[in-house]
Amino acid sequence: MNCLVIYSHFNPGSFNHALLDVLTETLSKSHDVKVRDLYALSFNPVLTGEDMAGLEQGAPPPDIQTEQELIRWADALFFVFPIWWSGMPAIMKGYIDRVFSFGFAYMMDEKGPQGLLPGKKVYIINTTGADEETNKQCGVFQSIQNLIDMGIFQFCGMEVAGHQYFTAVDHVSAEERTVMISKFRSAIERL
Ligand SMILES: Cc1cc2nc3c(=O)[nH]c(=O)nc-3n(C[C@H](O)[C@H](O)[C@H](O)COP(=O)(O)O)c2cc1C
Repeated sequence: MNCLVIYSHFNPGSFNHALLDVLTETLSKSHDVKVRDLYALSFNPVLTGEDMAGLEQGAPPPDIQTEQELIRWADALFFVFPIWWSGMPAIMKGYIDRVFSFGFAYMMDEKGPQGLLPGKKVYIINTTGADEETNKQCGVFQSIQNLIDMGIFQFCGMEVAGHQYFTAVDHVSAEERTVMISKFRSAIERL
């Protein structure tokens, strides 16, 4: 299986980076894996009129073209990012804005919007500062499911095959982190 990992965090010492390392190391044992580390790439997240003009003419800017080719290559996409303000970090949202473009990820016909990326699985891996109970009570998980799982990936015809949260990440002990990461490794091995 061709696996594309799309990752956003500025800190190589972060919990997200530890998850990225485990994910890529584990997947690489039995799959082809490519990683897009958006901060390391200095990915430009700002969609412009120029981008739109190029996309409409079938000539996307080179950085968008590169990412779209990688998505075409992938059977499974893994998105790894922390929850910031109940959603994606801006660099990840900008990746979606620019790369998941009309004509590539979706189109419109007489029946309405049609996803153009069927057959691709998506796994979303998120961390939160808030604990699980608070996230549930505040409706954060439900909002994210509506806005990200459905509003982006299912809209584009993809199957959301998994959405895993690591909660209260800022408050857990080093031992708890180790257990969380080791459980994550086992879950990826079972994919
Ligand atoms: C800009 C910003 C916004 C944040 N917003 C939220 C939030 O809405 N909900 C939440 O639970 N945690 C929030 N956090 C906390 C992060 O989710 C948490 O620090 C992160 O998931 C921990 O993982 P890390 O060590 O890999 O950064 C926010 C952190 C930052 C920097």
